[in-house]
Amino acid sequence: MSSTDLSVEVNGMRFPNPFVLGSGPPGTNAKVIAKSFDLGWGGCVIKTISLDASKVVNTVPRYGKLKSRESGEVIGFENIELISDRPFSVWLEELTELKKRYPNQRVIASIMEECRREAWHEIVERTQATGVDAFELNLSCPHGLPERRMGMAMGENPEIVEEVVGWVKEVSKIPVWAKMTPNIGNPVLPAAAALRAGADGIAAINTILSIIGVDLDTLRPMPTVEAHTVPGGYSGQAVRPIALRHVMEIARSHPGVALSGIGGIETGYDAVQFLLMGCQTVQICTGAMLRGYKMIDEVKRELAEFMGRHGFSRIEDFVGKSLDAFSTHADLVERQRQVKAGNQGKTNRDAETWNGEIEKETAALVAGR
Ligand SMILES: Cc1cc2nc3c(=O)[nH]c(=O)nc-3n(C[C@H](O)[C@H](O)[C@H](O)COP(=O)(O)O)c2cc1C
Repeated sequence: MSSTDLSVEVNGMRFPNPFVLGSGPPGTNAKVIAKSFDLGWGGCVIKTISLDASKVVNTVPRYGKLKSRESGEVIGFENIELISDRPFSVWLEELTELKKRYPNQRVIASIMEECRREAWHEIVERTQATGVDAFELNLSCPHGLPERRMGMAMGENPEIVEEVVGWVKEVSKIPVWAKMTPNIGNPVLPAAAALRAGADGIAAINTILSIIGVDLDTLRPMPTVEAHTVPGGYSGQAVRPIALRHVMEIARSHPGVALSGIGGIETGYDAVQFLLMGCQTVQICTGAMLRGYKMIDEVKRELAEFMGRHGFSRIEDFVGKSLDAFSTHADLVERQRQVKAGNQGKTNRDAETWNGEIEKETAALVAGR
């Protein structure tokens, strides 16, 4: 038996592994979630639900892709999809069944409501009665819902975040994660507001507002719906560096906080980077849409390989291990000055050589190397 343990505990919940399907098409109904659990996913954040699904009307098309010029691989993905349009009562039945069948895998209910205390109380009380393990509050969907003052319209305003999380915590008996928007300057402010109000954890990031491109035949931006469009949410590999920066800021400002990292994770090695930034779990949405649920075998293998290579036997051994590398630019300059000074006399790396190296780096870049 392998000595590598991929399980992880967060807010008193044990995940068989840190790989959780992110809210979106991969968690669109109980049937597909059951399939993902059979294949070995550690948990699933269901597609966001609300009390009145009749208000949710999607368009066709609702997706757009950015492809690599050379390989054609999808590197960025835009969607203008709304939250679940399936009736709340159907979801309640499905969640009850799902939890009975899969007691060991974590089902996290992503919920969203209008900015009214009674509405949030009702959705929390009725959903937690199904036996789900935790809530994720969607305070971050950037398109469509903000027109109804929901999603990102809440998450970009720390005062509203604090109020809504407070309402949820008044009635929730299970852990509550607040899912953050990246469409703001300082990710720490709304995360801090959520934690002040009692959130048990933070999930980051939701999608980034974007325009995937303009069709050069029709001159219409995409995805084009009856010759019109709206900016949509960007996800996939291209957003990973931005997501890593957001979780890093939140982890450094709130050491030890329960953090679920999301954004552009497609391999076990992508996931490891989020764990090193302080996340205990990771969520995969676009990656699962592009690669299929079966990718779970490979990402688990890659995580185990990384752990074996570094001698880590448990996830907790390396969560947040890269965070102490972040510093200020002035500190980087000072550290490099000390190294240069230490090298004086020992090697030829005097100030002139260092400046030469900076020039070489720039020259290589413009030459496409
Ligand atoms: C088609 C699509 C639908 C999504 N729907 C939701 C949703 O209903 N609720 C939510 O919180 N996030 C939703 N998301 C955002 C994802 O959960 C995730 O935060 C984001 O896409 C970044 O992760 P990724 O690069 O792994 O997709 C959706 C993403 C996509 C691509």
